[in-house]
Amino acid sequence: MALQTNNQRDSFTSKAGVIAAAAGSAIGLGNIWRFPYVAGENGGGAFLLIYIGFIVLIGAPVMLSEFLIGRSTQSNPVGAFKRLAPRSYWHLTGFLGISAAFFILAFYTTVSGWTLEYLFLAFSDGFAGKDAATLNTNFELFRTSGLRPLLWQNIFMVFTAFIVFKGIKNGIEKYTKILMPLLLLIIIILSVRSVTLPGASEGLLFLFKPDFSKITGKVVLEALGQSFFSLSIGMGTLITYGSYIGKKENLGHTALSVSAADTAIAILAGVAIFPAVFAFGIAPESGAGLVFITLPLIFDQMAGGYFFALIFFVLLSIAALTSTISVLEVVVAYLSEELKLGRKKATILAASSVALLGVACTMSQGPWSVLGIGDRDLFDLLELVSANVMLPVGGLLIVLFVGWFMPKPLLFAELSNEGKLRARFKYTYLFIIRFIAPVAIAFVFLHGLGFFSLFGGGDL
Ligand code: PHE
Repeated sequence: MALQTNNQRDSFTSKAGVIAAAAGSAIGLGNIWRFPYVAGENGGGAFLLIYIGFIVLIGAPVMLSEFLIGRSTQSNPVGAFKRLAPRSYWHLTGFLGISAAFFILAFYTTVSGWTLEYLFLAFSDGFAGKDAATLNTNFELFRTSGLRPLLWQNIFMVFTAFIVFKGIKNGIEKYTKILMPLLLLIIIILSVRSVTLPGASEGLLFLFKPDFSKITGKVVLEALGQSFFSLSIGMGTLITYGSYIGKKENLGHTALSVSAADTAIAILAGVAIFPAVFAFGIAPESGAGLVFITLPLIFDQMAGGYFFALIFFVLLSIAALTSTISVLEVVVAYLSEELKLGRKKATILAASSVALLGVACTMSQGPWSVLGIGDRDLFDLLELVSANVMLPVGGLLIVLFVGWFMPKPLLFAELSNEGKLRARFKYTYLFIIRFIAPVAIAFVFLHGLGFFSLFGGGDL
């Protein structure tokens, strides 16, 4: 059983292309900027353990579910639900994803803009001879200055739009296939450098030795949010990419490889960052500024620092770019397929409307700090709501849909490529997405928000 296919559609051309693009989406600032700082704030080793548990038990199955929805319908997230469940409300899940795309891109391009500034600083040897206090002040001055971060942010948006503009085969696939191997190489070089620093073992202990007394409802929810954010799941990015995957690819393998690659890169980022953080006596809980304040300090103090700083910020920019294109593609696919705008018009419209929210987000860091609630500015709110609320809710709806509503013959046909693959894991997968994943997501989510306080949740 299969839905009618559309041969006119742009698509990925090879297995390597699919993996590069999907891993490119997953591997991003989430791994290199967000994972180390969230792990640092939530206890290190214990967080890592729960995080990996969520990737295996929930993340990879949600990813596979998105691929299945996308490839079987060859549609954007809204169109996909409309095809699979006509005359129902399921397509609102697609709209939830499109709103999440706006939220994520807004704060993500803010951080991507910081990355470009720091790449520029690294290039011009701007960290030389600065102590921690100066680097901290400089980061704060830059972040809150309005115009300069705004400029970088929009330059980044233009790069993103340029690739998306070119389409799947000649844009996304082509660039991710070049950039992803480069990224892998750079992160390996950095990790080797970091673990060979004197005193590195303390950082490795922090990352790998679980301290279970650190686990609270908040830590568990943060781990769930981080696993969704890092895998790019819960908002239709991988429904969209799935819609461009050829009928011969093994979706189960693809989901597993991408999840494994994403986790490996997050751990490598931890290995690159924590030993250095500890070797130079910096607090691992330094928050969102961790890679922008502590790393320049570390680079300045270590042999070959100029070179390592440069490649680190190249790494961060590449990682960010291969992710922002996947988020923008969600909006572009929707606009071009559902509203029948041409790809070029859709890209311009999507990029410029996202940029507007992005402006507000960057400005909320300084000049427009009134944009916020309590001590959280717009940036913090967008990050918190998208990662810890929208993605888990989206993921919950996706597994419920595939587990309980998608016609079983269609689901199994898609999993096994019309019977050509054995797909022996199909009943385990079905059991996970019907029972384990939904219950776990709902529990962690409600608990983290403080609905029940079994082990003290609710302090988001
Ligand atoms: N996974 C990306 C990262 O880790 C961020 C992302 C989230 C991309 C959601 C797409 C969708 O940086």
